[in-house]
Amino acid sequence: MSKPETTAVILAAGKGTRMKSAHPKVLHGIANAPMLAHVFAVVKVAGIGRQALVVGPDMEQVEEAGKSFADGLDVFVQQEQRGTADAVLAAKDALQKADGPVLVLYGDTPLLEPETLTKVQDGLRGGADLVVVGFEAPDPTGYGRLLVDDAGTLTGIREEKDASEDEKRITLCNSGIVGFASGALLSSLLDRIGNDNAKGEYYLTDAVGLAAADGLSLEIVTADPETLLGVNSRAELAIAESVMQQRLRARALANGVTMTAPETVFLSADTEIASDVIIEPNVFFGPGVTVGEGAHIKSFCHFEQAIIGKNATIGPFARLRPGAELAEGAHIGNFVEIKKATVGEGAKVNHLTYIGDAGIGAGANIGAGTITCNYDGFDKHRTEVGEGAFIGSNTSLVAPVKIGDGAYIGSGSVIVHDVSPGALSLSRSPQEEKADWATRYKARRMKAKQRG
Ligand code: UD1
Ligand code: CA
Repeated sequence: MSKPETTAVILAAGKGTRMKSAHPKVLHGIANAPMLAHVFAVVKVAGIGRQALVVGPDMEQVEEAGKSFADGLDVFVQQEQRGTADAVLAAKDALQKADGPVLVLYGDTPLLEPETLTKVQDGLRGGADLVVVGFEAPDPTGYGRLLVDDAGTLTGIREEKDASEDEKRITLCNSGIVGFASGALLSSLLDRIGNDNAKGEYYLTDAVGLAAADGLSLEIVTADPETLLGVNSRAELAIAESVMQQRLRARALANGVTMTAPETVFLSADTEIASDVIIEPNVFFGPGVTVGEGAHIKSFCHFEQAIIGKNATIGPFARLRPGAELAEGAHIGNFVEIKKATVGEGAKVNHLTYIGDAGIGAGANIGAGTITCNYDGFDKHRTEVGEGAFIGSNTSLVAPVKIGDGAYIGSGSVIVHDVSPGALSLSRSPQEEKADWATRYKARRMKAKQRG
């Protein structure tokens, strides 16, 4: 017989009023992904096959986000924010369906690690009825405190607002993650939780005291406090971001990426960087960026949804916008912006250029100051530059336009018609020369000045 599956109930109905935001708390981003996405990712890695999400009313966005993180997700609505126990109660159907252990997680703990959930499951499989994830908080303010008896056995959880001065001195805190041996056990405990406390809320944490009084077997597993940070304010969001950045940088370094000043490189949760990539200081990776082996990224670059091929060189001061795709060995230099465009193998776009809605052939050379004029105020149009083409400096390519393979464009041209392969095209007024004009002009002006 296959072993019963664990169900994770993720609570995300809280408004997070201390965030002072029009957006639901759990959708605020850490490393360019919503907090909630991190929680779902961890649940998946920990091998928890069933998930239920509890959202508040008018939280369609959270529901949609949740469904994009987990196929066939069960979503429940908690009509009023009456506390974490009430939130779990909203998911009662999921508890009934659960044929294995149930873990309750909070959507605002994005730094959670899968090993922690594994430890909880191990505790439950080992016979515990209830497992609480605790941590030694450097500053316990705001967290529920774990109450233990002289033998070190968990007897209850006291919320900050209800704690006595003595209890406030306890530094062993509740992370919010609690595992229950079964959905039925959790349901029966929830039914007995009241709201006689400082906040007048139904606290899930009260399930612990009830279980202890019933003589059930309770266990505490601990994890690194940094991994259990609950985000309730923008300040905590910033702390979580910085911890996540450190993790992502450490992972990149471990994978063989060189970063001269890792603390100045900002990564996204989904950034993929191959080995032997060199990243100079002050580079920003937005979502959806992939970097191939051996690429060299110079200082002050900004990337979003871009693919950087093997051994490409980029920057300093380059911007890759969504849809930029650089093939192997492409060169992108300073003050260059690329959007929705492919740059072929070994092609060079080295200075002061905008390439948008375009295809640049392999080995093409795009001169300084080249601009693809891709927008006519209504629609976007494409520019195609053939393989090995040479675009002289300060050229405007007015799209839609095609430059054939190996063609030359004279500097300063405004190109509005297609150019055949191998041709030279230029559009500029003929250059005149007037012999000695400048010498005579200066002499005349000097004389006029001297006369006063
Ligand atoms: C909670 C715990 C506390 C723990 C801390 C860890 C309780 C009573 N307290 O406190 O012991 O130390 O987390 O970070 O559980 N939520 C709902 N519906 C509600 C209330 C909350 O869905 O009615 C959700 C929130 O969206 C959030 C989570 O539950 O994701 C936790 O709620 P929050 O208000 O942040 O609890 P804390 O005060 O941080
Ligand atoms: Ca919280």
